[in-house]
Amino acid sequence: MVSINVNGVRRDLQAPNDTPLLYVLRNELELSGPQFGCGLSQCGSCSVLLDGKEVRSCVTPLSAAAGKEITTLEGLPARWAKQKGLSAADAKSTLHPVQQAWIDEQTPLCGFCQNGMMIKAVELLESVAHPTVAQIKEAFTTSGPSAHLCRCGSYTAILEAVQRAATVTGKGR
Ligand code: FES
Ligand code: FES
Repeated sequence: MVSINVNGVRRDLQAPNDTPLLYVLRNELELSGPQFGCGLSQCGSCSVLLDGKEVRSCVTPLSAAAGKEITTLEGLPARWAKQKGLSAADAKSTLHPVQQAWIDEQTPLCGFCQNGMMIKAVELLESVAHPTVAQIKEAFTTSGPSAHLCRCGSYTAILEAVQRAATVTGKGR
């Protein structure tokens, strides 16, 4: 049995240690934020945060996540609420600023890649309060195992959404 912590909840699983984390999240825990794109760590659609770092869940074995904190797209509001010390009532009606910026900028086209884009944005904004355009581009292209790919070409909207989110997440930092 492997125990993992997903969005603040401990989950005990019977799956084999080498099961891709993505399969566990989608098939066993019914978390449909992370998407199966390439299955080869080459697109970023399956990304989640593992102890605050973006990882490709399609190539991350379940055993690598044991004892670590996993945050999926579904867990971003609670992650933000915890960081800001919001009440439980306020937390329920609050989106993460990155998610809100994605809505405000109408960023998604087909939407398939956007899980990974938002996860990457959260990772970036938690480490860099006010990233430059160059830093944003670097984060989404060369900082990880591969570039985050969008077949619809929503890159400009993503850039603008990250900048909008930073005006909230970077306030006072
Ligand atoms: S599905 Fe994991 S990187 Fe493409
Ligand atoms: S919005 Fe369609 S793949 Fe990115």
